[in-house]
Amino acid sequence: MRIMKKALFGIIVLLTALLTSCARNTDNVSVSSPDGAIELSLAVSKDGVPTYRVTRSGHCLIGSSQLGMRLSNTDLGSGFKLNEIHRDSVEQTWETVWGEERLIQDKHNALTARLRHDSGIMMDIEFRVFDDGFAFRYVFPEQGGDSLVITDELTEFNFACRADVWSIPWRTEYYEALWTRTPLNATDTACSPVTLELADGAYAFIHEAALTNYPAQNFVFNDSCVSTWLTPLQNGVKAYVATPFATPWRFMAIADDLSGLCASRIMLNLNEPCKISDTSWIKPMKFIGIWWGMHLGSMTWHMGPKHGATTDNMLRYLDFAAQNGIEAVLAEGWNVGWEDWKHFDFTTPYPDWDMERIVAHADSLGVKIVGHNETGGNAASYEAQLDSIYKYHQRNGIGVIKTGYVSPIITTVDGPQYNRSQAGVRHYRKVIETAAKYHICIDNHEPVMPTGLQRTWPNLMTQEGVRGQEWNAWAKDGGSPESHICTLPFTRLLAGPVDYTPGVFNFDNPVNPQTRVHSTIAAQLALFVIMYSPLQMACDLPENYMRHPDEFQFVRDVPCDWERSVLVDGSIGEYVCMARQKRGADDWYVGAVTADRRNIRIPLDFLDEQAAYSATVYRDADNADWLTNPCATGIEELTVSSADTLSFNLVKGGGCAVKFVKIK
Ligand code: NOJ
Repeated sequence: MRIMKKALFGIIVLLTALLTSCARNTDNVSVSSPDGAIELSLAVSKDGVPTYRVTRSGHCLIGSSQLGMRLSNTDLGSGFKLNEIHRDSVEQTWETVWGEERLIQDKHNALTARLRHDSGIMMDIEFRVFDDGFAFRYVFPEQGGDSLVITDELTEFNFACRADVWSIPWRTEYYEALWTRTPLNATDTACSPVTLELADGAYAFIHEAALTNYPAQNFVFNDSCVSTWLTPLQNGVKAYVATPFATPWRFMAIADDLSGLCASRIMLNLNEPCKISDTSWIKPMKFIGIWWGMHLGSMTWHMGPKHGATTDNMLRYLDFAAQNGIEAVLAEGWNVGWEDWKHFDFTTPYPDWDMERIVAHADSLGVKIVGHNETGGNAASYEAQLDSIYKYHQRNGIGVIKTGYVSPIITTVDGPQYNRSQAGVRHYRKVIETAAKYHICIDNHEPVMPTGLQRTWPNLMTQEGVRGQEWNAWAKDGGSPESHICTLPFTRLLAGPVDYTPGVFNFDNPVNPQTRVHSTIAAQLALFVIMYSPLQMACDLPENYMRHPDEFQFVRDVPCDWERSVLVDGSIGEYVCMARQKRGADDWYVGAVTADRRNIRIPLDFLDEQAAYSATVYRDADNADWLTNPCATGIEELTVSSADTLSFNLVKGGGCAVKFVKIK
């Protein structure tokens, strides 16, 4: 693979100062961030209870917080002795296969504490402290014997200050809910991740990284203490693990402002380097699809008079994609099984879908097909057929598959389970690894919340796990409020790419007229920049795009793979302005959206100060209104430099999108 194979542009400066010191006489050790601002200390009490605390710039951030586990037969919350510690320091830069950033710096100090339990069990706690946060995980070295039966993890984050939390409750199906803001001490439960605004104005983000063979974490709040609560299997056990074993990392990113929080790459740094040696087949791209019609109710997934995925429709969509430089087309409802959403067959098309003809036409145009495998939650059946399904898709030149698991409880090889349980996590990993063998990339809907695994398996390109655009077609509550898309960049998006599906150009909704997209065309364009996804779907119907060819030019142009990303400005739930540089090029793109009417100022200091740029601006026209006049867009050309500041009046639910091209 491009990056990790070559010893990294020579930028790697690996300072492996591995010190092993005997710590038998001490029960308190600490490790600081490279810049010294964050200090994390581990203490093991007289009773052998491991706890940690964290200071930032000399102030207590996290007070004494419990660490440990509960096993079915042993309480690993006390009874430990600190045996020895190891220290390490790392400073390296690595290149992503695709992402919001091409180069990522990993600079941290590490401390591993080896604990011996009264029962004889050995448990390491590995800590890493970065300039913008800290992380730790539990590691059980090889120690023979039976599997460990984990019934609870005891991790706490005990905040030393007041804070507000943005979260969704832990039971939220598929993570598809509106994020709400509550005071820390009035929050009940949450899915991971959560975002916090601390009393001193700093922002924090708590999540997990490298979730592997273990349940996803959730949180339970008690006053100012946030405790990990693992998703259970149906028998109440959290995880069965054989040693050697490492849990996912628990991490907190922290920054003085939202730009710093959005720039944190701790989660990716905590994941393993890429395991795919040749990644040349993994390509970010935009796609359209036979999709929005089904959500609007004007098409169906199943066969019938309104069937969406017919040969004729697909040929038409493929032609439109080819004419507009869109790399691929998705089709849902092409295979049998949609009558009951249960008995899907992933290699048998409906009779009105001529796979051979469609594939030949796509090939002749140089357009790719995005396959669709909705399992209805029957993960076990899908898993049993993975090789044959992926061979079939590979044979037809289909290199990207959107998977789906519509069912609150999925059927795994270990029976009905939460998709975020250990059994679910194992299934999704099996899918990614098997897909990689067949050079297939995955767009995973109804997923486990992303944890940065794309560093290791970059064929896991994007995931849902969000109340996405489709809710604006049919949600009983009338569609997501204008604040929703201004909240996601600071919450769900911090966990990784999202298949939000931007790009609505027609806001009429005849089947559900009470529901609509609370947005303008200019705001929809901005989402192509804001809602980062290396597989970016322009969701509307070709006929709606054809009605607005000038606005659609931005969709044709905007890339979905970036050299650098900078949050220009934002406030959670109120507005967001994001700037991104096209990967390997000089062009920049900006997207801004707002919940309420506002004047937005965009200093262009991210541009190269030696150059002039031509800027194509797509903004809300003065008479635009998300409810009555969402299509009114002003388009203008400007010549600008990095010393300029753009200023636009955005309407409620509105936005602007700008493309900057360097003038040579
Ligand atoms: C829910 C997914 O989010 C949506 O994109 C898809 O169209 C349906 N399931 C059917 O698979």
